Amino acid sequence: MSGRGEDLDVLQGKKIVLGVCGGIAVYKAVELLRLLTRAGAEVFVVMTENAKQFVTPLTFQTLSRRPVHGELFDLISERDIGHISLAERADLFVIAPATANLIGKVASGIADDLLSTTLMATRAPILFAPAMNVNMWENPIFQGNLQKLGALGCRILEPDTGPLACGAEGKGKFPAPQRIFEEIEGLLHDRDLVGETVLVSAGPTVEKIDPVRFIGNFSSGRMGYALARIARLRGARTILVSGPTCLRPPAGVEFVPVTSAEEMRRAMLDRLVEASVVIMAAAVADYRMAEPFPQKLKKGEAEGLALRLERTADILAEVGKQKGGRFVVGFAAESENLLENARRKLVAKNLDLVAANDINQPGAGFGADTNIITLLSADGGCETLPCLPKETVAGRILDRVAAARRR
Ligand code: CTP
Repeated sequence: MSGRGEDLDVLQGKKIVLGVCGGIAVYKAVELLRLLTRAGAEVFVVMTENAKQFVTPLTFQTLSRRPVHGELFDLISERDIGHISLAERADLFVIAPATANLIGKVASGIADDLLSTTLMATRAPILFAPAMNVNMWENPIFQGNLQKLGALGCRILEPDTGPLACGAEGKGKFPAPQRIFEEIEGLLHDRDLVGETVLVSAGPTVEKIDPVRFIGNFSSGRMGYALARIARLRGARTILVSGPTCLRPPAGVEFVPVTSAEEMRRAMLDRLVEASVVIMAAAVADYRMAEPFPQKLKKGEAEGLALRLERTADILAEVGKQKGGRFVVGFAAESENLLENARRKLVAKNLDLVAANDINQPGAGFGADTNIITLLSADGGCETLPCLPKETVAGRILDRVAAARRR
């Protein structure tokens, strides 16, 4: 998974006002700006006077490719925003870092500079990412202000806990720009899966041969992680059961790490009661060692080695048997007779939708950033998608899920 959202078009052309207040975290707001512009957003930066003490407006101007706003009255003469104020044009305001001073001003209705004035004038959603010293964060006056803004519908991104720039340790650390970016995506995304609980499996399973060796497969987990990430962005409560991968779990997703097929089976069946949608994207081992060696296997004199394997349980078939009113999606990785095999799995495992891919095609399947899938549905539908980034494929699968749940 890219984790940066380049493949998602949710930010494409969105007008975001990035309000930057004075604090050491200003340098991290530069990275946030970069993530936003790379994802196609039009970012209008408004800096307070104090913010300019930390990083010059030139940095923000260069990266946003727009003049940085700071003076209350310069907007009137600003041609490229066509005399329409930032407050009216914005799809979203993000204040990062947000200081105690700015939050106090907004909560008290004070508008004495460009940032606080545009915040007062906007009807766009507002996201505050506060960063400050731990004592300021815990100050009851500040906490009261924060609660007031939260109750008024502003979104507050809690800071991290850790060593702070002032030398203290505690809560108040500016979150990673990637986390703020993902929060922004969530705020701007269609939320057509609100009320659903999506249970997704991802990655390979790993079956022990002896204490140091295993039987695995080439699944990277990207397809399942993309599904979990986008389900979450679209408002679903999302549970991700994952075999070992190198990927970072997407923000806001309940993460259940597992290793073997049997562990994955137990985790999936445990969480099934909570789910309204199940998507089985994991590449589950079909066989495991009948008796794993308790000690490291020595090569000895033997020229060859035969391992005795036994079948694992088919998790998806078990889910299909207990399906109830759930919408269940499976994958079919095939190297021949794609449609025939996929349709057989759809019926045999009692699925609503199967995403079939021919693993021999370049750009499809294990390890790739893209996938080429054919969606076969229980009602007889069949649609082949072009070669698309896995996040886009995830979006298409979830479109089907959302449409079915609406029905
Ligand atoms: N699956 C599962 N448990 C298994 C094997 C597969 O839940 N033990 C799921 C996969 O996650 C996928 C679907 O079943 O959603 C199809 O998996 P696939 O490997 O394509 O096929 P198999 O069912 O294993 O059948 P075959 O090996 O004959 O292709």
